[in-house]
Amino acid sequence: MEWAAAQRAGFDAFLAERYLDSWPEAFAEPLRYPVFGGGKRFRPLACLAAYEACAADPNDVARALPPAAAVELVHTYSLVHDDLPAMDDDDERRGRPTVHVAWDEPTAILVGDALLTDAFAILADAPLPAEARIACVATLAEAAGYRGMVGGQVADITGGVTDEATLTRLHRLKTGALIAASATLGGIAGGASREEQAALRVWGQAVGLAFQLADDRLDADEDAGEDGPPSFVKLLGLEASQARARELVDEAIAAVAPLARPQRLVELARYTIERDV
Ligand code: IPE
Ligand code: IPE
Ligand code: MG
Repeated sequence: MEWAAAQRAGFDAFLAERYLDSWPEAFAEPLRYPVFGGGKRFRPLACLAAYEACAADPNDVARALPPAAAVELVHTYSLVHDDLPAMDDDDERRGRPTVHVAWDEPTAILVGDALLTDAFAILADAPLPAEARIACVATLAEAAGYRGMVGGQVADITGGVTDEATLTRLHRLKTGALIAASATLGGIAGGASREEQAALRVWGQAVGLAFQLADDRLDADEDAGEDGPPSFVKLLGLEASQARARELVDEAIAAVAPLARPQRLVELARYTIERDV
């Protein structure tokens, strides 16, 4: 997707220039490492695509870049903490040592703390009307906290997921909430109406779940066996879980059809299930 490659480059340049320089030198390297570690930038792309779908001037992305950065920093923090020995205890992410392996556990905890906190500073300072900034802060806080991603992580570590409905609930919180917030923030930055924001949320929730179904397909070998984590592939089988993912993508595309320029959201929705990383 040419659009995605250009947006990724613009997003990375913005993040490097605007935020990395403001981090203290001694801490800059462990902060830079997970932020510029080869992530797909799916959440910023969702934010920018939603902005393009709604904004009066879709080419003026300066308004959407700060919200896009905020969601990516929250996502990055969640991965750094998720990999810690007390959580998933993973030594590698994106083919490289995790932060607590490359540095140490206190550094990884503090990197996560800094990224999460910085995300909200970025939103508070975004070049948007005060009401839009408050709406962005409230939306991201809800999606990241106990009623969103952290709630999903709690359900995950508590365990005992043996049916599709419970697994769906867990992933709607753990993965879906932040993806839905990414699209909603892009809409808010673009001046979307309440109805348009609601459509973007539906897109994000459906795409978020499809994203997770695709993840379970990609991780099927790793997750296999009784000791592996619960997954849609294990519960439904590969074929049924892929059919469910296609349904969700259709649902997402239908939700944003009434928006002014839904094309990028349509492409991103399709990408979630076609991707091979
Ligand atoms: C990985 O997210 C963790 C989930 C929430 C499924 P991504 O697949 O978006 O991770 P990166 O940022 O591209 O590595
Ligand atoms: C990653 O979740 C963290 C969050 C979604 C908050 P997972 O543990 O399911 O994903 P990977 O396998 O570490 O990327
Ligand atoms: Mg993990």
